[in-house]
Parts: sequence; C-alpha cells; structure tokens
Amino acid sequence: MREVAKQDIGSAIAVAGHPIHAMLVHFPIAFVIATLGVDIFYWFTADDFWIQVGTWSAGAAFAFGVLAAIVGTLELLAVPGIRVRVASWNHAIAAMVMLAIVGANAGLRLYWPEAVLPGGLMLSTLASMAAAFAGWHGGKLIFDHGVGLLISSKQ
Ligand code: HEM
Repeated sequence: MREVAKQDIGSAIAVAGHPIHAMLVHFPIAFVIATLGVDIFYWFTADDFWIQVGTWSAGAAFAFGVLAAIVGTLELLAVPGIRVRVASWNHAIAAMVMLAIVGANAGLRLYWPEAVLPGGLMLSTLASMAAAFAGWHGGKLIFDHGVGLLISSKQ
C-alpha cells in the first residue's frame, strides 16, 4: 500500500494541469445517452428522421469514445501511480467493454438501419449502462484516489 501511495499520480496528458481525458469523456457519455433518447423518440414516432439522427449520434459516441480511450491509455501508460493502481485497470476494462457495445451500435445503424428496433434500442440501453459503470469507475480514480488532481506529489 505504502509503495503504491508513493508513486506520482499527477496527469501527464494535460493542459495547464487539467487532464485532457477528463475533459473529453463528457462527449462519449453525452452521445451514448443521446442515442438512447433518439431511439425512444423513434419508437414513439416511427419517423425515419430519428434513424438518421441516431446514426450520427452513435457514430459520434464511438468516435469520441475512441479519442477519449486513446488519451486515457496514454495517461495510464505514462504515469506510474496510475499504472500501478488496480482501479485504473478496472476502469480501462469497463471503458473498453462500453466502447465495444458503442461500436456495435454505430455499425448496426450504418449497415442495418432497419434493425434499430429492437436491436439498436437494446444496444443503446446496454451502452448507457456500460457508460454509467465505466464513468463511475473513472470518477473513483479522481475522487477516491486523487488521480490527475492539481495537488500532486510534483507540487
Ligand atoms: C482504455 C481506455 C481508458 C483509460 C486507460 C482511462 C483512464 C482514465 C484515467 C487515468 C482517469 C483519471 C483522470 C486522468 O488522469 O486523466 C480517467 C478518468 C475518467 N474516465 Fe477514463 N479511461 C479510458 C476510457 C474512458 C472512456 C471511453 C470513458 C467514457 C465513458 C471514460 C470515462 C472516464 C471518466 C468519467 C473519468 C472521471 C473524469 C472526471 O471525473 O472528471 N474513460 N480515465
């Protein structure tokens, strides 16, 4: 425990001390939840307009998710105090599971738009649950472990 606590946990991929990953993650989370909302609108209205919106929304969730994951992975590899914590790897695995579901959801809309109901809606529900789980683990890194805070052993 003491050896883990000694390692630095200051963010390496940051702008003026603010972790870029923490700034990026709001986008995939928002687009994942928006896709679920759009699918529910489509379910109620049967208006094809919502199929198009869902394709863009699921695509944006995946694109921003990949971007956030790349920055998160760089952070994980670059900072010894992050790398050494089991909680970081738990978060990374949860995030990759989320990303796989989000990617499948985007792919389904691109190639089989007629399967949005019920397949897309089910994937959107699953993706929202996975985003909540991954996000909660990410939050634990900051609020429980103090990862990426401006007050680090470097200061
Ligand atoms: C393999 C991929 C990922 C790794 C290795 C990773 C790693 C990290 C790390 C090290 C932190 C602490 C903050 C920092 O130092 O930047 C963090 C925070 C966080 N991550 Fe990730 N992450 C990954 C993907 C994702 C994805 C795709 C999401 C989107 C759901 C996400 C959501 C969060 C959230 C919500 C926080 C807390 C941010 C805050 O409260 O301000 N992460 N992650």
